[in-house]
Amino acid sequence: MQVISIDTLKTITHIQQGDQEVYIGQVRPFHSNESLMKYINHSSQARFTHVSLAQGEEHKPHMHDTNSMLIVTEGKGALIGDLSKEVKKGDIVCIPKGAVHGFQCHYPEGLEGISIQFEGEGLFDSEEKNIRFDYSKRLLQHNMDLCKAFELSPFFQLMEEGIFNDADKKTTFYQNLKIWSEKFQDILFARQCSTIDPKFKTLFTEHILEEIGHDKLLKGKTKWDPIIDSCGDWFMVKMLQSDNIEKLVITHMVLELCGDVFHTKALKFADQSDADDYLSLHAHLDEGHAHMGSELLGHINEKQFDGLCDLSERAWKILEILLNRVAELTVAEINKKF
Ligand SMILES: [Fe+2]
Ligand SMILES: [Fe+2]
Repeated sequence: MQVISIDTLKTITHIQQGDQEVYIGQVRPFHSNESLMKYINHSSQARFTHVSLAQGEEHKPHMHDTNSMLIVTEGKGALIGDLSKEVKKGDIVCIPKGAVHGFQCHYPEGLEGISIQFEGEGLFDSEEKNIRFDYSKRLLQHNMDLCKAFELSPFFQLMEEGIFNDADKKTTFYQNLKIWSEKFQDILFARQCSTIDPKFKTLFTEHILEEIGHDKLLKGKTKWDPIIDSCGDWFMVKMLQSDNIEKLVITHMVLELCGDVFHTKALKFADQSDADDYLSLHAHLDEGHAHMGSELLGHINEKQFDGLCDLSERAWKILEILLNRVAELTVAEINKKF
């Protein structure tokens, strides 16, 4: 028998991610101690690591390419990421491959545990370390949450209240939506003429070619509204001032995702026999448009991630004001006419 002190294990506190060093708490792989590894048996598929966080520390959200388990052996803290939950001594946290997870500790007793993997490769065996701070996945998730919140807005309520079941009401709605639809064309042209990088230019060209003239599918005279116009101009200015990743986030992750949700919902509420060209075309195209270019988000770092989260929050807020104005104008006109 023998007793092995935790202090004899190698301690890792940072890992390199691109040009950044990220703090990960105090991490002690069992395989760093020769006699411990001999005892466990080198051929065993299981890997063990002692992990700890002191009060005020965080192990930022990340993912692994293998299933993982954390047995909390001391203290308490918060699991963050795909699941947010308080954890304490005795809890067993199961973390499937690819799940975004991290830990924070706000308590004086700290948080300690044993991390276990089952498939022959531990998290800290290789040079690359089996850990990814996948900020693009987290950005997409954050954006999706913002979109979900927007689905409760008056603009989306119009559909639930049956705007598409009455031809005249639908026409009124489309006339107001057309103000935005025309502006959207200008936004895409502004993006096009401000992009030089061929990777982005190719993508943006492919997109604009599928959008040109869609505003013309909405019948009626061109109207003007100060709120829709100025909110639309916010997007125009962003196309002229932002970098390509930012333009991608605004146009695809926000505007097109919103378009996808809108057209899909509208089609659901519309009388199927009366699904007009505008709706069926966009319900078909916008799902693809919402995901266009997500591979170009690539390996954004933590700083970009924070900036892009702020940007998408702002874009959703402006879009919400704009589309709620479309709803407000429509309701006012319907109340006057009917
Ligand atoms: Fe982890
Ligand atoms: Fe689209």
